[in-house]
Amino acid sequence: MDIETVAEKAHEFIRQRCREHLGIVGSMRGAALAFDYRYEHTRTVAAIAGSLADEVGVDPALARIAAWLHDIAKCWRSDLDEGANRERGENHGSVGAVEAAVFLESLGLPPEPARQIHQAIANHVGYLKDYPLAEPLDALLWDADKLSKIGVAGSLHLLGARLTQKNEFTDLVQYFSQPDLELHRGIRDSLNTEAARRWADREMAAAAEFRRQAAHALAGGTLQG
Ligand SMILES: [Fe+2]
Ligand SMILES: [Fe+2]
Repeated sequence: MDIETVAEKAHEFIRQRCREHLGIVGSMRGAALAFDYRYEHTRTVAAIAGSLADEVGVDPALARIAAWLHDIAKCWRSDLDEGANRERGENHGSVGAVEAAVFLESLGLPPEPARQIHQAIANHVGYLKDYPLAEPLDALLWDADKLSKIGVAGSLHLLGARLTQKNEFTDLVQYFSQPDLELHRGIRDSLNTEAARRWADREMAAAAEFRRQAAHALAGGTLQG
């Protein structure tokens, strides 16, 4: 099986696992959820990883496979109980690395790319760090995952999660009026590659402008140039 086909299979596999997760969480809450945060986040990470891959010297298909599988252990499984699923989520780097390796072995991915993906998934957890990741795929997966959180996509994913996963009231004007979070600047400074830092600067500026325009429009203003 060529690596592009493996990437497509990984996408299908995660799409299915995210649906299963959404179904489990929906039945625990007694209501179907209308927003699939896990899939939306993963899709954005895969797209960013694929776009940045050439610039950081990684095969784009390899980058997308790692991205599709990186949060696999956050998808709850119906064959496990709540405690086991929570434990998988709490250790989702190391557990996900193993689950991804098992899946990739079943597709016949050769040992070396499988090893790189295993390591990148094990090392992607966290928001902040003060050292660069040396392996190109580790660095790229970390960067794509963090970039997905600090831009326009991240704002929309978080809003979707708030609207569907929390019981508290969400005031949209207040939501979009939030300034740039200190955490986002820390995430930006923890990126590994120059290409990702340039991407972060563009995305953070676009997200600030997006939030400003959204808050203004929701308060009855006309769009500003
Ligand atoms: Fe993660
Ligand atoms: Fe993630």
